[in-house]
Amino acid sequence: MNNISCKNIYKSFQHDNEDMPVLDNINLSITKGDKIAITGASGAGKSTLLQLLAGLDKPSQGNVFIDDIDLQAISSIEQSKVRLNSFGFVYQFHHLLEDLNVFENVLIPQQLKYANNSHESVIKVTDILDQLGLSSRSKHLPWKLSGGEKQRVAIARAIINNPHFLFLDEPTGNLDDENSALVQNLILQIADEHKIALILSTHDTNFANKMNTIYKINNRNIKEV
Ligand SMILES: Nc1ncnc2c1ncn2[C@@H]1O[C@H](COP(=O)(O)OP(=O)(O)OP(=O)(O)O)[C@@H](O)[C@H]1O
Ligand SMILES: [Mg+2]
Repeated sequence: MNNISCKNIYKSFQHDNEDMPVLDNINLSITKGDKIAITGASGAGKSTLLQLLAGLDKPSQGNVFIDDIDLQAISSIEQSKVRLNSFGFVYQFHHLLEDLNVFENVLIPQQLKYANNSHESVIKVTDILDQLGLSSRSKHLPWKLSGGEKQRVAIARAIINNPHFLFLDEPTGNLDDENSALVQNLILQIADEHKIALILSTHDTNFANKMNTIYKINNRNIKEV
């Protein structure tokens, strides 16, 4: 999988029986290895665009392509397989499962992918936790971790299946400056090491500037800045 693109995307939501447009005429292409930031005011449509590109929501008009596969033309099960094998997600809030420890949280995508607990998966999770400085936290439940540690676990979970594209929706929005810098560096390092494309939504100009291309959504349109 090398490319995600969208053609003539129009997206609106219904409010009180009225059609409220959020995105209009959006054309974008992201290739393996790219690092793009999507910026814009709160409510501009950044999260909506990320959801559309990942196939987690449907455009009102237009198409999203993964390589040359039209996402709308494949079943939701096939779309899930694409996400499981090729996409990773990190959000502002970590969304870790509170009843599972750090190791188990990171193992989940491997279990979904391979449907069993292989020795390879266990080694893989151990390695990633080590790489992200979380080995000593492996047996801990999420509530015992700091905000920065939880976000690092969320990153480990997002990359455990070797995604080609990492969707980051304000991944540092809930962190203090020190942890934000740590998480930013970690994401960039992982992207370079594993050749993962980054699709980042952020209000942080400093983080956006570390991407190769910066887009801004304004008045439902997107422009490179
Ligand atoms: N599921 C939904 N149903 C109705 N309206 C929605 C839905 N999701 C988003 N919207 C609306 O679409 C617009 C864009 O929302 P979105 O969350 O994409 O903005 P954003 O740029 O990510 O904002 P923020 O920076 O605050 O995260 C907002 O006006 C929001 O209210
Ligand atoms: Mg958002």
